[in-house]
Amino acid sequence: MLAHLVDEIYFCDLRRSRKWEDVKDVPGLPQATFLQGDAIKMLEKLPPLTVLFYRRDSSGESGSSLRIIGKEILPQILSKFDLAGGWIFCDGSNGGKTFHLLCSADWHPKPSWGFQFREVDRTSMNLKDTSSLHVVEVRPLATEPTVMRAGWVPPHSETLDTLLAYCTSNNRLVPMPPQWSKLYNMLKNTRQKPSGGWVPSLPLILGAWHHSMPIEKLLRFKEHLEWAQEQNQLEEIGKYLRSLSDAQWCHYGEL
Ligand SMILES: C[S@@+](CC[C@H](N)C(=O)[O-])C[C@H]1O[C@@H](n2cnc3c(N)ncnc32)[C@H](O)[C@@H]1O
Repeated sequence: MLAHLVDEIYFCDLRRSRKWEDVKDVPGLPQATFLQGDAIKMLEKLPPLTVLFYRRDSSGESGSSLRIIGKEILPQILSKFDLAGGWIFCDGSNGGKTFHLLCSADWHPKPSWGFQFREVDRTSMNLKDTSSLHVVEVRPLATEPTVMRAGWVPPHSETLDTLLAYCTSNNRLVPMPPQWSKLYNMLKNTRQKPSGGWVPSLPLILGAWHHSMPIEKLLRFKEHLEWAQEQNQLEEIGKYLRSLSDAQWCHYGEL
């Protein structure tokens, strides 16, 4: 489930499980590392994180009673998050008001944590799963341009941050297929690999449009924006994307 988002997964529990030994590395899947100990204390040993995955806990007898998605612990975990942001996959275990706020349809800013949050997907691990996982996108809050003198605002110049902020506001997810295809064709130096695949990967349109999750579309679209940045095309691509009408965007919840 996380293979397209991460290449390493750290499992942490106070107790060692025999099942840990049964997990073998599989090519193409993230590498698993098992850590025995207190999850909060283990944080300092971890590299920058992209995903927090937390489910099926409780405050009952066998549960941890930890408010992982709460205002004490979550900021500690977020301080380990990659500066570009990431995602939280959580079924709401031990969650309270904080978790509810993060599962917002539009961006919910938390300035003191330096991040904003919105729910981008709802998914389940398999058919037997009774409770679904909420997928919450975590993005750094863009810092406001400094106003040097009264009335003076720095001239507009597009950065990956400003463009991403625009492309994800008002519930936007990705451009509609014709516009996404045009955007891809505008990108410089795209190339086909001998295996047939493209660099960067093609937009998830045509057949892939209905067979990909919103989060996968978002991720692919971001890959294209990052490519535009590497090719020094942010101004041009930003101008095009900002010219699109509302109907030329696919919004979260419309699929
Ligand atoms: C309800 S179980 C979680 C089940 C698991 N999420 C699953 O999907 O199968 C709660 C687990 O939290 C572990 N735990 C309790 N306090 C902890 C802590 N401070 N750090 C790490 N794990 C903890 C317990 O050992 C227990 O295995």
